[in-house]
Amino acid sequence: MTPFRVATLTLNPALDLTVRADGWRKGGVNLGQSLQFDAGGKGVNVASFLADWGLTVTATGLLGDENTERFEALFQEKGVRDEFVRVPGPTRVGVKVVDGAAQETTDINLPGLAATPGALAELESRLDALAADHDAFVLAGSVPPGVGADFYARMVSRLRGAGRFVALDTSGTALQTALTADVLPNLLKPNIHELEAALGRSLTSEEDVLAAAHELLARGAELVAVSQGERGALLVTGNEAVRARPPQVDVVSTVGAGDAMVSGLVSARAEGLPLAEAARRATAFSLGAITRLGAHLPPRSELDTFAAQVAVEAVEWREPMRQKT
Ligand SMILES: Nc1ncnc2c1ncn2[C@@H]1O[C@H](COP(=O)(O)OP(=O)(O)OP(=O)(O)O)[C@@H](O)[C@H]1O
Ligand SMILES: [Mg+2]
Repeated sequence: MTPFRVATLTLNPALDLTVRADGWRKGGVNLGQSLQFDAGGKGVNVASFLADWGLTVTATGLLGDENTERFEALFQEKGVRDEFVRVPGPTRVGVKVVDGAAQETTDINLPGLAATPGALAELESRLDALAADHDAFVLAGSVPPGVGADFYARMVSRLRGAGRFVALDTSGTALQTALTADVLPNLLKPNIHELEAALGRSLTSEEDVLAAAHELLARGAELVAVSQGERGALLVTGNEAVRARPPQVDVVSTVGAGDAMVSGLVSARAEGLPLAEAARRATAFSLGAITRLGAHLPPRSELDTFAAQVAVEAVEWREPMRQKT
């Protein structure tokens, strides 16, 4: 049997610069304690988690050619195949100034490199080539300047048309456009705020969330997982729904919680796990992510311990009675 191959797409990666300067003051001269660069971006994180799990992973997208070092080191370290299209200039940098004493982080996000038509054409042909021998695709993160809001929708249609499993994790107009397209992704994992924004209505009760998920399932999605931070997630398919509640853990950094959940769901798909087991797996991945720095999974034994602590319950759902007219 050939291994299950996953490709992740990151259009707008970021090089995260974390500076620790305890007690720093705006406008003053401050002393720092440390400085660190990390490769970031949602699809890059997903590639990292899935490689840790042991899947065969390729990462593609657009990467500035002036500061590739951290990305290349990560891919090398994790055995991820690097299929990023290089574009001239630096990948955007996200600056995080951490005041460890005050337990406070200040973020400064710099704009992404604009994608050129040439780079996008090259990326599309790489995706077509990857579709020949990759089973699943994870399209994740925001869309940089120069990329149309319909890019994800078009790629979803192309990749599903080629018979591939497609997961999408994005927000804003890119998500809204993908949700109203003719072909929906197989897997969607919005957080509740992203789903509310994309549908243009608030989802206050569990019934609201279930009804919203069923709308997307009726339009072609196969699994909709709506995450709600520490409250857990609701996972819905055409004939089943489960709620997955995480235990309380010591959170080190919630960065990548959602990316880990997507990764867990893709790994569950690779193994054909039933929904309740997929929910347990995905939540365990998230717990692994938030209990350490960076997009890395703990050893399997620790993931198994987390998985055993997740409360998974079946959720009943009946289609609301349509009003007679
Ligand atoms: N504070 C927390 N305690 C326990 N579990 C958490 C916490 N925050 C997140 N999780 C777990 O991670 C899952 C995904 O988190 P969340 O809903 O915050 O994703 P997200 O908003 O997409 O995150 P991201 O910033 O990575 O995109 C949750 O369903 C939950 O299982
Ligand atoms: Mg998210």
